[in-house]
Order: sequence, then C-alpha cells, then structure tokens
Amino acid sequence: MDIFEAINSQRAMRRLKPDPVPEELIWKLLDAAVKAPSGGNRQPWNFIVIRDDETKTKIAEWYLDGWNKTYGPVKQAAMASPTTARTYASADHLANHLAEVPVLIIATFNTSGVAPVSTSGASIYPAVQNLMLAARALGLGTTITTLHRSHEAEVKQLLGVPDGVDTMALIPLGYPVGKFGPTNRIPTEKVVYWEKWGQARER
Ligand SMILES: Cc1cc2nc3c(=O)[nH]c(=O)nc-3n(C[C@H](O)[C@H](O)[C@H](O)COP(=O)(O)O)c2cc1C
Repeated sequence: MDIFEAINSQRAMRRLKPDPVPEELIWKLLDAAVKAPSGGNRQPWNFIVIRDDETKTKIAEWYLDGWNKTYGPVKQAAMASPTTARTYASADHLANHLAEVPVLIIATFNTSGVAPVSTSGASIYPAVQNLMLAARALGLGTTITTLHRSHEAEVKQLLGVPDGVDTMALIPLGYPVGKFGPTNRIPTEKVVYWEKWGQARER
C-alpha cells in the first residue's frame, strides 16, 4: 500500500473482530515500530504483546474503570453532539469489549532513572505511530489508548514491568469490523503558518 493511502485512511478502529492475528504479522508491525526515531537513538522502548485471556480480562477491567471515571460523567453531553457522539460511542464500545480484542500491545518507556519530561513521549509515540500505520497497511485495526494508566501500578505488577519503566500506550489490535478512513482532520491550511505565527496561506 502507498504510504499516503495508509496515512489518509488510518483512523481509530475500535470495533475489532475476535479473529486471531497471525504471529508473523504481529512481528511485522513490531519491526516497523522499532525503526522509529528516538532521542539520542536510545530506543527506550519495549513492547508487551498480550494474547492471554486472563491477562486481557484483568487489563480490560481496569481500562473500563478508567473509561467510566473519566468519560462516564460527560456521556450525555458527548452523545448530544453529532461531532462527538460517534467517537464517544466507538470509545465506549472498545472500553466494554477490550477483553475480546485478540491482541493488546503495551508500549513501554524506559526512563533510565530520569524523571519523565514533556518530551519523553516523543521517544515512544513515533514507534507507536509506525506500528499503527504498518497495521493499517496490513488491513489491521488499532487505536492508541492510554486509559489503562489510571491503574498503571496494577498493570505493571500484573505484567511484571520493573520500576523505572512506564507504560505509555495500550494498542488494541485486530481485524476491523468497519471500514478504514477517510481520516478527518482540521484542514491543513487552517493549522499551517508560513514564516511567522498567524500568516496562513491558501494553496
Ligand atoms: C495521547 C492519546 C491518547 C488517547 N487515548 C485514547 C483512549 O484511552 N481510548 C480511546 O478509545 N482512544 C484514545 N485515543 C484516540 C483518539 O480518541 C483518536 O486518535 C482521535 O479521536 C482521532 O480519531 P480518528 O483517527 O478515528 O479520527 C487517544 C489518542 C491519543 C493521541
């Protein structure tokens, strides 16, 4: 698949089939992930691939709790607006069905004993994006998620993640129920300035 086709049709795919994902494809995504840039080329990442039902069920409980606490209170308002209702319904579906997703991938960041700074994520999220674009190219759905972090300590304990390593993203992976893309965003011209802040241009 052409890289621009992948970019322009990659969006959060939260309704996923329970069908297994071949292991060779999982490796392919992870090979793409580890090609990402990182500060000083330190490659501070690890990826935990989770397929065990018991582990997924536990993580799904914590994720749902994070979802309910964070987004439960705004349900009515979110569902009232057509622009947010679709995303809310899809995120709600994922939160209530996470254990049925065939593969969960947790991307971790090794802090090397240094307190995380605002740019720490910049050494992990390019790898996550590589993984998600590779998944798109292979017809696999993903979403970058973070709600498990409301139970970060429990997730780490369950998976045996050592001190000094943070879980930065949980990526559900599976064959999508719906269609990819088109990816809808604010038009490029509205967010690009030329030479100085505020100097927008038409194409
Ligand atoms: C930092 C970050 C955290 C996110 N956390 C979650 C999450 O916990 N759960 C979820 O369903 N989506 C999560 N998302 C996905 C966003 O909701 C999604 O990227 C956005 O709505 C655009 O969706 P689209 O690509 O389908 O248009 C997260 C995205 C980012 C970048």
